[in-house]
Amino acid sequence: MSAAETEGIKDADFLQLRDFIYAQSGIFIPDNRKYLLEKRLSNRVKNLNLKNYGEYLHFLKYDSGRRQELPRLFEVITTNETSFYRNPPQLNVFQNIVLPQILERLRKKGKHGLHIWSAGCSTGEEPYTLAIILHEVLNSELASWNIRITANDLSEAVLRTARQGIYSDYALRTTPKDIVRKYFIEEAGRFRVRQELKNMITFGQLNLNDRSQVKLVPRSEVAFCRNVIIYFDDAMKKRVISAFYDNLVPEGLLFIGHSESLHHVSRAWQPKHYPGSIVYYKEA
Ligand SMILES: C[S@@+](CC[C@H](N)C(=O)[O-])C[C@H]1O[C@@H](n2cnc3c(N)ncnc32)[C@H](O)[C@@H]1O
Repeated sequence: MSAAETEGIKDADFLQLRDFIYAQSGIFIPDNRKYLLEKRLSNRVKNLNLKNYGEYLHFLKYDSGRRQELPRLFEVITTNETSFYRNPPQLNVFQNIVLPQILERLRKKGKHGLHIWSAGCSTGEEPYTLAIILHEVLNSELASWNIRITANDLSEAVLRTARQGIYSDYALRTTPKDIVRKYFIEEAGRFRVRQELKNMITFGQLNLNDRSQVKLVPRSEVAFCRNVIIYFDDAMKKRVISAFYDNLVPEGLLFIGHSESLHHVSRAWQPKHYPGSIVYYKEA
């Protein structure tokens, strides 16, 4: 047996771990990412005093501690890269075009309630950015609106950071300085989001691969699922995108990551092209 085989994941174990992870989360790890899985799981193998990845797979499937291990697995297999004001052109479209249209439509109906879903919110920068935008657009009117943002992620670990709401300046690198001054409190070089933003958001663990969990999310006017479906295979993308369709109210809309597309995923949506962003609308 070669050194690589004794230390690394055996091909058969890789395939079974990949299947297990896919069944649990919808995250699909392609062959050329085997090294990444190996690297990410190595500490779990070590910390559990297991001999190799095959034993870890067995632990995940049969050990009495398998339920407690799942959140740790989710923590290490997910990629949580995010920042405040990520992809400004998309957010400009949301702030200056889409959101004013939605608010106007709701005002005409005499409704002053709006629900936004940030799915795959990671450490919270996306939903907090949305809360800031709502503040900026509604200003003094905000108090007469019931605005709720539901922010979910698969990983409990990132949600702990999100609930804390304390960030480094790196997370704020694309955030306008006046926004930082207005919505954050600086404490020893770290930035704490103001309580009024926190009050608008409900953070919770949710697996987009779990239809019964997804069905419990309140119906939304807008869903953000940016840079999440990139980790899924086509079958999972279809399931998730169809779940957003079901969740949204008529004329509701979906933002996905700017490098992601619904091409080959769903024809149910009406894509509208704005400068720097495509927005997917559900029919009226
Ligand atoms: C790259 S981050 C994107 C964060 C944010 N939406 C953004 O665009 O900056 C992707 C997030 O999707 C989450 N994720 C992956 N699979 C998921 C699933 N099945 N259910 C819920 N969240 C998932 C990951 O935990 C991760 O935090």
